[in-house]
Amino acid sequence: MAMVAVAILAAGRGTRMKSDLPKVLHQLGGRSLVERVLDNADLINPLRRLVIVGYRGEFVQESLSERSGLEFVEQPQQLGTGHAIQQLLPHLKGFEGDLLVLNGDVPLLRPQTLQQLLKTHQDHSNAATILTAQVPNPKGYGRVFCDGNNLLTQIVEDRDCSQAQKQNRRVNAGIYCFRWSDLSEVLPKLTSRNEQQEYYLTDAVNYLNPVMTVDVEDYQEILGINDRKQLATAYNILQTRIKDDWMAQGVTLIDPDSITIDDTVQLQPDVVIEPQTHLRGNTTIQTRSHIGPGSLIENSHIGENTTVLFSVVKDSIVKSGSTIGPYAHLKGHAEVGSNCRIGNFVELKNTTIGDQTNVAHLSYLGDATIGTKANIGGGTITANYDGVKKHRTVIGDRSKTGVNNSLIAPLVIGEDVTIAAGSTISEDLPNDCLAIARARQVVKLGWRLKSKE
Ligand code: UD1
Ligand code: CA
Repeated sequence: MAMVAVAILAAGRGTRMKSDLPKVLHQLGGRSLVERVLDNADLINPLRRLVIVGYRGEFVQESLSERSGLEFVEQPQQLGTGHAIQQLLPHLKGFEGDLLVLNGDVPLLRPQTLQQLLKTHQDHSNAATILTAQVPNPKGYGRVFCDGNNLLTQIVEDRDCSQAQKQNRRVNAGIYCFRWSDLSEVLPKLTSRNEQQEYYLTDAVNYLNPVMTVDVEDYQEILGINDRKQLATAYNILQTRIKDDWMAQGVTLIDPDSITIDDTVQLQPDVVIEPQTHLRGNTTIQTRSHIGPGSLIENSHIGENTTVLFSVVKDSIVKSGSTIGPYAHLKGHAEVGSNCRIGNFVELKNTTIGDQTNVAHLSYLGDATIGTKANIGGGTITANYDGVKKHRTVIGDRSKTGVNNSLIAPLVIGEDVTIAAGSTISEDLPNDCLAIARARQVVKLGWRLKSKE
């Protein structure tokens, strides 16, 4: 394979988004448009990756700062797609390979499609090969005219089309492969003599020969995002792809339309996802677990055979055989062991729960470490914050707190401890003890409220 450089067009503002944010930074299922395009580009292992930035370019650059090996090329004024690619001339001087041009606002392309485009380009030694699609509604796209051998005769922008040309439903996806030595010859010849007074990359294509077209099978792949409605449509397309994929891999989705799953999520066969459940970010769910209805799992790991019912789990780990919810909230690196029960209205923050421990009702455990086989009574609350700093609470194996216990941190409670209901515990407790910290009940026999009669 010849050497490939990738250029991503990402300089436009995206006026129709009606946003301060550059268009390519809008999020689609947890990743920005440009990140999605870059992830796709990475799969073909390009030699160089150039991102053409303009509108709030530094901001775009900053948003990609965690990726290595990107070259940012500034297009100070956005005078058209051809003008954008002209900015590459000094950077790719003497480059001998092919240039793959991707649109920063076309996020749904499949990697296989790019591979096919490259292969056709290289197998036929074309000067350029362009990706096209037959779309039901071609409005807004450049129209592509070919002969019977998929050789291009002409591309005409929508606004420059005659009524007759507008009937053509084969459109330019805005994705191209160029032999750079040929393209770099014609780029300086572009003019802005057209309806938009822009330098069109499509004009460069019109100057080259031979140019072949490759039709994408699934036209949804080339959907460009120009407004919020198209962003929503793209999200739905992406969701359908992801969910169809997981079902094919043995995951049960009950009422898939009400479920959303980011493409960064990993599921195992025989996982069941119930309605109104949302799986986001870097989440993994192991086999036979049952999530939902009504749950949100984000950046979390759920072990085998665990259930999560009407609950929120963020940045946390739940091991196997546990039940979470209904109405539990795990966050801030909570870690629940195996065979635990975390029940109704329980919040866990930065807390570790040992195996076979139950926290069944109405508790808040923050910054705590709980041992194995412990039982946290209903209404047990860690007072982990003194108004300035957070402090830890440690509870040993097999200990039992009573209902409505207040545990004033920092606090260490030993193993096999029992605490009486209603106690406020502010001092450490040794192993094997009973602690009672509440006022004694007073009973006044024969006492009655004096009535007014
Ligand atoms: C372009 C194509 C059109 C194609 C369509 C597919 C041209 C002249 N037309 O039209 O044939 O059907 O894409 O989506 O190329 N950009 C820059 N700098 C600029 C102008 C644009 O970086 O000066 C970037 C934009 O940020 C965007 C991309 O290039 O990511 C496409 O630009 P846009 O203005 O949306 O082109 P279209 O009119 O959609
Ligand atoms: Ca566009």
